[in-house]
Amino acid sequence: MATLLGIDTSCDDTGVGVVADGVVLANVVETQTALHARWGGVVPEQASREHLSVLDGVVGRALAEAGMSLTDLDAVAATRGPGLVGALLVGLCYGKALAWGGGLPFIPIHHLEAHVAAAVSGSQAAPPFLCLIASGGHTVLYAVRGWDDVEQLGASRDDAAGEAFDKVARLLGLGYPGGPALAALAASGDDRAVPLPHPMEHQAGFDFSFSGLKTAVAIALERDPSLPPEDVAASFERTVVDALVAVTRRAARRTGLGRLVVAGGVAANARLRRRMRAADLDVAFPPPALATDNGAMVALAAERRLEAARSRQPELLAADAAPYLPLTTTADRNASS
Ligand code: KG4
Ligand code: ZN
Repeated sequence: MATLLGIDTSCDDTGVGVVADGVVLANVVETQTALHARWGGVVPEQASREHLSVLDGVVGRALAEAGMSLTDLDAVAATRGPGLVGALLVGLCYGKALAWGGGLPFIPIHHLEAHVAAAVSGSQAAPPFLCLIASGGHTVLYAVRGWDDVEQLGASRDDAAGEAFDKVARLLGLGYPGGPALAALAASGDDRAVPLPHPMEHQAGFDFSFSGLKTAVAIALERDPSLPPEDVAASFERTVVDALVAVTRRAARRTGLGRLVVAGGVAANARLRRRMRAADLDVAFPPPALATDNGAMVALAAERRLEAARSRQPELLAADAAPYLPLTTTADRNASS
């Protein structure tokens, strides 16, 4: 049995997890939400500094939660990209140093692969499946035919779904990040009350677009400031979910893949879960604690790569942070720069 420690510092959460044989023994996330809230979004330099000051303590807390010490670890993994470069560097350099100091293999991990790993862990799910990742930074649809055979079918051409939730929440005065607050407000609203355009409704492909929808909400609120906020929230949420479900169903029909994994922060959305479950697809969601950014998902993704990583150590220890890193179909995408 191998015990792995995983680190994610790709954005504004410092996440460290400990995993053994697919079981999450510890998952500690120190969020920077309060720090960035006053700016209405993540300030990259502030995020890097905060990761730097808290990461060592978060590693200590994760080990304590797992009832382990550094000498119990068999490998260390960290997110290498995509993400904010300064933030990524903090976790990546820390992880490399920890591994090298302990004579352990180091495994650099793709952030989106980690989200996928979190959604399928424990459910015996192996490819092939469709994977929709909807987070604050990404909205992307993959055909995962094997762990090293991943085809990107489509992606958002502008804002990510979570980003749209955050921006519309801001228009409604709900603070940052607004996704969960907007979803809570939407629960009591009429989702047909405010007519909104359906983005990319008539396309033949698998892309998404959410920035026009955000603008449509802004215009509707400008024209009629007395619109009930819960109706605006519900109508917006329904429109986003309609788009995610429609494109995913089209991809399922077109690829013949009937199984679906939904990952990323927006996978926590109750309406999305309900609608995807009703969409005639065999769908898996990550457990709520693993849906948003965390370190356990990095360790879960690393488990599958441990054996191959042992013989590639000098190369993997040299992996650089990669702020823009597509999840491609090459076998060594985690290591190539
Ligand atoms: O995956 P994640 O933790 O971080 C990124 O990699 O971006 O996703 C965070 C995003 C935020 O935009 C947040 O507003 C959104 O996920 N989110 C939600 C919900 N919970 C989190 N959006 C809609 N409904 C939710 N319940
Ligand atoms: Zn993420």
